[in-house]
Order: sequence, then structure tokens, then C-alpha cells
Amino acid sequence: MGTYILALDQGTTSSRAIIFDREQNIIGTAQKEFTQFYPREGWVEQDPMEIYSSQVAVMNEVIAQTGVNVNDIAAVGITNQRETTILWDKETGRPIYNAIVWQCRRTAEIVDKLKADGLGEYIRTTTGLVPDAYFSGTKIKWILDRVEGAREKAARGEVLFGTVDSWLIWKLTGGEAHVTDYTNASRTMIFDIKNLTWDKRMLEALDIPEGCLPTVCSCSEVYGHTLLQGRMIPIAGSAGDQQAALFGQCCFDEGESKNTYGTGCFLLMNTGERMYESKNGLITTITAGPKGKVRYALEGSVFVGGAVIQWIRDEMRFITESRDAEYYAAKVKDTGGVYLVPAFTGLGAPYWDMYARGCIVGITRGTKREHIIRAAQESIAYQSFDLVDAMEKDTGIPLKGLKVDGGASRDKFLMQFQSDILSKPVLRPVIRESTALGAAGLAGLAVGVWNGTEELKKLWRCDVKFEPDMNEERKEGLLRGWHKAIGRSLDWAER
Ligand code: G3P
Repeated sequence: MGTYILALDQGTTSSRAIIFDREQNIIGTAQKEFTQFYPREGWVEQDPMEIYSSQVAVMNEVIAQTGVNVNDIAAVGITNQRETTILWDKETGRPIYNAIVWQCRRTAEIVDKLKADGLGEYIRTTTGLVPDAYFSGTKIKWILDRVEGAREKAARGEVLFGTVDSWLIWKLTGGEAHVTDYTNASRTMIFDIKNLTWDKRMLEALDIPEGCLPTVCSCSEVYGHTLLQGRMIPIAGSAGDQQAALFGQCCFDEGESKNTYGTGCFLLMNTGERMYESKNGLITTITAGPKGKVRYALEGSVFVGGAVIQWIRDEMRFITESRDAEYYAAKVKDTGGVYLVPAFTGLGAPYWDMYARGCIVGITRGTKREHIIRAAQESIAYQSFDLVDAMEKDTGIPLKGLKVDGGASRDKFLMQFQSDILSKPVLRPVIRESTALGAAGLAGLAVGVWNGTEELKKLWRCDVKFEPDMNEERKEGLLRGWHKAIGRSLDWAER
């Protein structure tokens, strides 16, 4: 049997493929960005065919580029942007509408209606989520309402629904497997996370026929095979990217947590077999793990994390490359009292305000570009602080330290500021590709490349530990300013 694992990481802005060896070294990486569509204010779409074709392209590219023999690839593991919703025609294999992306706010009114119908509490206790347009359920309804005949076809199983994992597995297995995994299912707002079944009451409330839903599987098992250069390779692991990262960071035990700085910021704490019902704006979700009893996590999801730096680059044109943000932020000693709240698509945890919008406050005549760049950087750390704070309040477990990963964790200024504002050490691993690593780990466990989580733990290595270095008074002052700024952005958009 081969000893390489091919991880497919289908993220919000790019598709990536990474080959890992048995020691979890990265043998090769390929990445391709794809198109984002913003048809209206607050709407975000992607082309499912482009998601698939970009994923296939990088998969072939990484194999060609590394020269790895496909016979040496033991399995494929998949991880993906979660909640993004795709419906496709089973017969033609073509989507019936563009993918509605997790960031898209178009279904806010459907959510308001669910709340008005008294389903808010039911959603919390059954699905672990807060009612929000972020999750897949209302997006499915929107497509079924808009595309003629779709609901009837879906009821007959002729139109299928899937999150991105499901879509990719279906395509890669030539339409043989219509599956999803517990982690992705737990983001749909139609899945009962305690009984591990699609929830009849939510399906009824959203008028979604059960016939179009995928079979829900564990995160580590063979779902089917894909043809790679003439060889059938098992697809043996699947998990939503944030749960995959928690797994890749080896947060297998209760109380362990990680924060991923990608497009958004996603902080998850493993809570073991216990399902916490958050009183502080977090959500309960299922973790990724070997086949067997499911475990849970508390999650804080921030919609705009690293994406604020892209905004500074692409829309404000303050920098030419994302990595320049670190340089400019360090050129000033502070933000000069400026705060930037990147509530571009509303605010996620712990505020959950679909109508919040971004703001920059505290500007004076002396405010320079560098101050605003720094405020953008700091906003990522403040938002993550709010998540840690909520998590500690919910669980009563003080976080000892925070494991970090994702693109923006490369930024030393940001990581140091994060440690300062949290008053906790921040630990960055050697392999920052925790998401892909997690998918590889799940697939590798299913086919016997690794024997168990203990073996994976031994392979995890810390690269840099950032220690807090800010006095309490300064920290408190900064946080006060941040929370005042948050107050300015809440409830801003017209309904
Ligand atoms: O819930 C959305 C999340 O899964 C997206 O992650 O890394 O693509 O921004 P990312």
C-alpha cells in the first residue's frame, strides 16, 4: 500500500491540493484561485463547476509537479469551506443554480421568519446553531423557491443537495456516492446533532424534501473511489475545514482549542462528549475524528478575519501584497485611537447581527494609512479575543494557550498582538496547513497509514511560541475602545 496522502482543501477563495508523507512532511502543494460573484449587495456566489474544475486541476498539478507515483497514494482526504450550498441535477451532473456561499446574506429574511415563527430556541437546542443566514438550510430553501420545478424534482431525488464536500465526492466518484460527514451536516441548520439525523421539523419549516439530502457518514471511512491517472484511489476522509484544522492541530482532548486565521476566523474548543449550550453567542458543532462516538466542540465564527487585509489591499489599495500589512502595522506605535470593525457581511459570533456593517472610528487629522492598516490587523485579534472570552465564560475552562494556523498566522505582528490582547501564549506549529493536515490524518487513519491519534500527536511540532507582553491597563483600554467601536457598527443596514 502507498504511504502518501493527497489532501484536497477546497476553501472559500481557492482550491488547494497537498501531498503529505507518513511523517506528515509536505511533499508538494498546488493552489488555484477561482471567481467570486457578488450579484447584489451582501450576496456571494461561486460557480460549482469552477470549484470542481479548479480542484481537479490542482490535484493533477501537484501529482505532476512532485512526480509522486499514483500507486504510492494511499488515499484522498477532503476538507472544505462549510455551509456553502449547492443543488445539482442528478441526471446531467450540472448545478441548477450557482453555489450560495456561506458569507451570503440573501436569506436574512427567511431567518427572521423562522424566528418570528418561534423556532429560534428549537434551532439552538436541536442543531446547536444560532438562527442565521450563514448556515445552509435557508440557502437550500431559497434555491428551491426560485428555480422552477426544483422542489418537485428534489422530492423525487432527481435534484441533490450537498455542501462542497458532498459535491466534490459525488463528482469525483462519478456520481456513485451522495454523502456528507457529521461535521458538514452539523452546519446546515437541518441536522439534529444529538440524534445524528436530518431533522424533520426543520425540513418541514423550510420546505426541503428529504429525498435530496446526502447520507451522513463519519469523517474517516471509505466513501468511494476516484480515478487518478488510471488508478482507483479511495476517498477516505472528509471534514469541514475548521473541524479538520482542530483535528490537524491534534486538539483531541477536552479543553484543547485552535484558531484559524483564514478568510474568517474560526476558534474551536473540543468539549469531548459534552454538548455545551452556549449562553454567550457561540455555537455547538460536531468535531472530526475516527469512526465511532461523535464528539463536540464550541465554535466561534468570525466572518471577516484575513479578508480584511484583502480589502485593505484590493479595495482601499493601501498595500500591494497582503504580507505588506505586517510591515506597515509595525511602522506606527499604535493605531492613534483608530478602530476598524470589518462587519462587511454582518457580525458573526458572539454578536450575531445580520444587519451590522463595517465602520472605521476614531479618525483624527493625524490619522495615516499606517494607522488604518494597523487597525485592520488588530481587528482580527480583537474579534478572536471576543471568542476566547465567550468560550471561557461558557465552559468555565480557562484557555492555557491558543494553537493557531491559517494564512494570516504567518504574520508575526498579528500573532504577537493576539498573544498580548489575550494575555496567553499563542502556539504556531511547523505545519501551518492544519486544515489539509487534518483531512490527510482522517483519510490516513481510515486506510491504516497511521494507527491512531496517539501516533498523530507525536508528529505535531511547535514552531514559534508567542508570549504575552502588554500591561493589563493598556490592554483594558484597548478592549474598551474596541467594544465601543463594535457598538457603532451594530444594527446598521436597512431592513
Ligand atoms: O464556515 C466557513 C468556513 O468553513 C470557511 O473557511 O478557510 O474557507 O475561510 P475558509
